[in-house]
Amino acid sequence: MTPELLEQFRALLGPAGVLTDSDAMARYCTDWLGKWQGRTAAVLRPGNTEEVSAAIKLCHRHHIPVVPQGGNTGMSGGATPDTSGAQVILSLERLKRIRQVDPINDTLTVEAGVLLAEVQQVAREVDRFFPLSLGAEGSCTLGGNLATNAGGTAVLRYGNMRALTLGLEVVLPDGRIWNGLRGLRKDNTGFDLRDLFIGSEGTLGVITAAVLKLYPSPQGRAVAWVGSATLPKLISLLTHLRASCGERLVAFEMLSASCLDLIAAHVDSARVPLQSRPALHALIELSDTRPGDLAGLLEDSLNHGLKHDWIQDAVIATNERQAAEFWRLREGISQAQVRAGMAIKHDIALPISQIPHFVDESDKALREVFPELPLINFGHLGDGNLHYNVLLPRDTSPERYHMLTEALNRLVHDRVMSHEGSISAEHGVGQLRRDELKHYKSPIELELMLRIKQAIDPNQLMNPGKLL
Ligand code: FAD
Ligand code: MLT
Ligand code: ZN
Repeated sequence: MTPELLEQFRALLGPAGVLTDSDAMARYCTDWLGKWQGRTAAVLRPGNTEEVSAAIKLCHRHHIPVVPQGGNTGMSGGATPDTSGAQVILSLERLKRIRQVDPINDTLTVEAGVLLAEVQQVAREVDRFFPLSLGAEGSCTLGGNLATNAGGTAVLRYGNMRALTLGLEVVLPDGRIWNGLRGLRKDNTGFDLRDLFIGSEGTLGVITAAVLKLYPSPQGRAVAWVGSATLPKLISLLTHLRASCGERLVAFEMLSASCLDLIAAHVDSARVPLQSRPALHALIELSDTRPGDLAGLLEDSLNHGLKHDWIQDAVIATNERQAAEFWRLREGISQAQVRAGMAIKHDIALPISQIPHFVDESDKALREVFPELPLINFGHLGDGNLHYNVLLPRDTSPERYHMLTEALNRLVHDRVMSHEGSISAEHGVGQLRRDELKHYKSPIELELMLRIKQAIDPNQLMNPGKLL
């Protein structure tokens, strides 16, 4: 980028709005997993929507590719630029305003750079609840949550980010601002542009603000940790809990025994809740907006599970501290994998009824072909989303890593498709699964997606090399 152009960006965004120093830019150029390393000509940090628009207009005029970035916690390399140095990173971290809180309409209008944990806090301050919840909530942003259609641990009850959103404001690739900040539960005035931008991973425009749905505050929760011998048994418990607890069932998270070994080794002062060593663990949470005996309900349901031998062991948290500790163990698995080695990650969705068949077949195939590789299987069983990962030693060469990734992707994703699942559930396609998407999407879906991209971003300036 020429010095003149940099000066123009500085004139638009002010000195705090443009970073060019390599030390200052370093943290924007690599991702949370430390898997991708890119280069950028500059990090642009606009302070409001108008500045985003002005910066994008300048990029558009000079054909500069733009990589939008929020909290940079993504797991698919979507926010990391390529290595050419020609792309600019557009960080939304300074768009921090809470624009409106409307407890009567049960909505909250916030800018893209607000952290998810801050959104949750603002909701609590008006005695409401914002349900999106995930391990990175202290550092991921609302814009990133929207751009990836994030899922997390409460999808079972509340749905993913798309289900929690009513309206959007987006800066288009030519710099114009689309104001779709409508707080409406019904709006059928043509194609749903909001849903097009949600999950588009920065390839169609920059999300600058959103109207979010608020929910009644839960008045309490009951949290349990259980052990089970097999997936069909654990799924029988899930089915029973859905029937016995209805909407009170908020989370049903599964972890294989190998995950617990990793957690014990790598999460500070971790103590595994169960004495027995079951093949599978699950963390279950119930909550309700009315005070009631949630622990009693959970206990009854778990006793039913014990009686039918669906589970062999169970502990119900006796206080909030213990409940938080159960969650800390569950959330610790991401960091534990990073500490333990290099994971080949899969983020797959399946009909819940198909999960035991998928896991049986994939485990078997994996053991036959790569008997030495440890499998780390965990995820949001309640919504059919597994992180079916394989851990490699830290000193694996890049060539072997690449070869194994290709082989394992085929092994896992072929089986996902044969059970009518999806190869990308909640982390986004990014650069990690771009080739896989091309491999598995039907030609007609791919064609429609490419036509939409061409119509909105004809110069291919928004997040090139990602998703499509
Ligand atoms: P970034 O990483 O900065 O960006 C992600 C993608 O969104 C990129 O393609 C980027 O270009 C695009 N983008 C970012 N902001 C904008 C914007 N304003 N406009 C347009 N495009 C934009 N994800 C889940 O879904 N469920 C989980 O349970 C979960 N758990 C996690 C736990 C940990 C410990 C970590 C590190 C990550 C986890 N994630 C999870 C992944 C990640 O946190 C989420 O995907 C999150 O939503 C990303 O937000 P971000 O602000 O960090 O986005
Ligand atoms: C999770 O469920 O913990 C996340 O999606 C993050 C991960 O897969 O590491
Ligand atoms: Zn997850």
